[in-house]
Amino acid sequence: MDSFLIHGGSRLKGKVEISGSKNSALPIMAACLMAEGKSTLKGVPRLSDIDSMTKLLGELGCHVYRHEGPASIVDGPSLNGPLDIEVREEDKSEARYDIVKTMRASICVLGPLLARRGKAIVSYPGGCTIGDRPVDLHLRGLQKLGAEFQTINGNIVGTVKGRLKGRRMYLGGAQGPTVLGTINVMCAAVLAEGQTVIVGAACEPEVSDCADLLIKMGAKITGHGTPEIRIEGVDKLTGAEHRVIPDRIECGTFMIAAAMTNGELELKHCNLDHLISVTDRLDEVGVHIERENGTIYCSSSRRLNAVEMTTQPYPGFPTDLQAQLMALLCLADGNSVVTERIFPDRFVHVGELNRMGARVRKEGPTAIIQGVKELQGACVMASDLRASAALVLAALMAKGTTRIDRVYHIDRGYEKIEQKLAAVGAQIERVRENKAAA
Ligand code: EPZ
Repeated sequence: MDSFLIHGGSRLKGKVEISGSKNSALPIMAACLMAEGKSTLKGVPRLSDIDSMTKLLGELGCHVYRHEGPASIVDGPSLNGPLDIEVREEDKSEARYDIVKTMRASICVLGPLLARRGKAIVSYPGGCTIGDRPVDLHLRGLQKLGAEFQTINGNIVGTVKGRLKGRRMYLGGAQGPTVLGTINVMCAAVLAEGQTVIVGAACEPEVSDCADLLIKMGAKITGHGTPEIRIEGVDKLTGAEHRVIPDRIECGTFMIAAAMTNGELELKHCNLDHLISVTDRLDEVGVHIERENGTIYCSSSRRLNAVEMTTQPYPGFPTDLQAQLMALLCLADGNSVVTERIFPDRFVHVGELNRMGARVRKEGPTAIIQGVKELQGACVMASDLRASAALVLAALMAKGTTRIDRVYHIDRGYEKIEQKLAAVGAQIERVRENKAAA
């Protein structure tokens, strides 16, 4: 388990290449299970979650091959070699616990397997550090299309008699729409007989990106990006070429890094349209943001304002940037209020930020943040992907040195984060496991 050593106080300045979206690439890779022939995906980041999905697809009979890309960070991670995925055998349909426990997005193979192979065994993902994460909506939607489910030894065992049948359905839950649930049901409906209408669908750009790939493969989908998706079933899909969208969460994280360090960053290969609620909050915080084509210029040269923020489904403020914004608000002038509406327990970073001198008090799904003049370096523990990113941001501004343990969490979702930060002036170093233990 590697650690990061970060010496705080550097002002970040320069260019950062934003990678392709992890949360788009994972379900898109799973959707390739439904196509005949080879699919070629561009912009897929090099991350441990992508390695886990590659392994899972391999176990499900796919040949997955990464073409050579530039080896150096200077050439830009967005130029990663394309990923080819081709289904070679269709007799296996099991996503084992060993893989699912490391990556919840493994659930994305459920819809594609049922639609194409008529059966699927996927280990129940269970909860995680960001809270309870049920899959009831995935199952309910797929049941409406005709799939049958049993729970056997911790596995979801799904079968389809004949072919799935299209239906009109409502897919919202108590916390609003489900992103991966919408994708799972949309994928399955593409190969179902007749028309499916998903009402209460998630509108996240990652859902639209997956729909765009499926359309290139021959699917008939309209309304993606809105709460009502319409799908006319087709008999087959054919492999296609697709570039995944830029990672809006990575982009937002670097925007916050620029703001916190009173820095000046030029973020390449971004889509600011996907970050409208984030720019809205950062504007109020006092951050200067400009865009020119796919580049975002983000800077700040003064103390930051306290704000209120509530996470919401897209286009609201993303839960995946809540922890990072909180790190910023720890250093703002005055009191901020952050409310988490998607995962009400997603506050594991609060204790660690407080260990660095922050003043954050949690009350149910809300955190009240009293801005302080400075944070101090400390030994802290990464606990989940976005909480870890928040600790990195806090460490960049803290006085002295911060050691962040268990950074494997961050390696799941941020491509080459320490190289990207170091290239714009951060003092960050990875300490390899054996050296850290010494
Ligand atoms: C996706 O998870 C993302 N993961 C998450 O990013 C992200 O936080 C989340 O969407 C919300 O934007 C990937 O794309 C791989 P949901 P997902 O189903 O789809 C409840 C990261 O850090 N719900 O949209 O699993 C659920 O508990 C990760 O990159 C049910 O009640 O999230 C939550 O309250 C973490 N029943 C809400 O819906 C269900 O069957 C939204 O969750 C499914 C979800």
